[in-house]
Amino acid sequence: MNSLAKKRILLCVSGSVAAYRAPELARRLGEQGAEVRAILTEGATKLISPLLMQAVTGASARTALWDEAAEAAMGHIELARWADCIVIAPATANTIARLARGEACDLVSTVCLAADAPLLVAPAMNRNMWSHPATQENCAILRRRGVSLVGPDHGGQACGDVGEGRMSDVSEIAAAAAEAADRSLRLAGQRVLITAGPTREPIDPVRYLSNHSSGAMGFALAAAAARAGAAVDLVAGPTAAVTPPKVDRFDVVTAEDMLAEVMRRVPDCSIFIACAAVADYAPARYSQSKQKRSDSAVRLDLRPSPDILASVAKRPNPPFLVGFAAETEDVQGRARSKLDSKGVDMVVGNQVGGGRGFGDVETSAWVVWKGGGKRIGQCAKPELARQLVDLIAQRMGLGKVALLRTGSQAR
Ligand code: PMT
Repeated sequence: MNSLAKKRILLCVSGSVAAYRAPELARRLGEQGAEVRAILTEGATKLISPLLMQAVTGASARTALWDEAAEAAMGHIELARWADCIVIAPATANTIARLARGEACDLVSTVCLAADAPLLVAPAMNRNMWSHPATQENCAILRRRGVSLVGPDHGGQACGDVGEGRMSDVSEIAAAAAEAADRSLRLAGQRVLITAGPTREPIDPVRYLSNHSSGAMGFALAAAAARAGAAVDLVAGPTAAVTPPKVDRFDVVTAEDMLAEVMRRVPDCSIFIACAAVADYAPARYSQSKQKRSDSAVRLDLRPSPDILASVAKRPNPPFLVGFAAETEDVQGRARSKLDSKGVDMVVGNQVGGGRGFGDVETSAWVVWKGGGKRIGQCAKPELARQLVDLIAQRMGLGKVALLRTGSQAR
């Protein structure tokens, strides 16, 4: 079981009947070594008192965004920066909806919006509220953003119904919080270089060769690596994706540009993740003027683009190397043959084509390394990114020793 020693957990309690179990959760987190602070929504204060949360955590519990004394020192930002992990337990349908919409209308939603820390949500509500498409869509939005959900469980409810919607057992929530907080420093001390998105190879001033990559997977990896404590350099082809917090982004257009930017940055990095869909070929000649349309067929001569991943692999003392394989069939087999042909430490094989693989879609992957492999089932790209970061840390042997050492230094 993961330890919570010296981890700072911000426990947000919202107004479900399950709020009566929040003091027990706070106590359990504290017993495992965590320093716990609590925030209660207005609804939660109708069910349990801030004084009770103060008694079990040893720190005053906040309830309001517009608290003059606390906000004199920008208390909501201080709380957002303080937390190694934010746990919302119980999380009502209303709180989940606010998070999904990115609202900042009370202290809980504002702190969550301002924080980079991993967010763990333990829903608790009536079974019909839970199964309502609105709640399910809101939860799907949160998962796509990398939020972890624990529960809800099936069972008897305060309203007399029986079904899914009970808040999970506090020991289960505490274990999930330990795992999430653990992740927050897994790559501390590492510098990660990531390529993302497509490249564009110009034909003439108005046309280019490219592909469907949106940058979503590479940007999700950058966000997950930064959340795991790494310094992250992201070399991005043309994409509308939004730069994640704490990530340094370098925009490029062509494969040649991407190679140059990667080679500039690779000497400083300890992990290189090649997620970009680099155009394999570029026009052999660039036409300075726009090529005129004609009714006859045209021929476009192509030359191979530089292989960026192979160039990094050829360097003396290369970093830990992760390649991607975008395949339309035999994903596992082709990922394994790329592992050998490219001489890398890990390959993430993912299926593309027929609407799969590109953009803001759920995906699945076969991750292979020498002597092993793991299938990651259908999930949102931020969740796949989170699992990949965990696997990279495991394969590099970055464990709890590094984690605790850096953790105590950080405090
Ligand atoms: O951006 P999204 O819309 O989220 O889509 C994500 C993705 C499908 C693009 C991503 O998950 C993915 O699979 N990226 C790699 C796509 C690819 O180009 O695969 P490949 O089999 O052609 O290349 C194998 C590896 O070599 C990749 O790590 C690639 O980055 C690298 N490569 C390829 C060609 C080249 N000239 N230089 C390279 O470094």
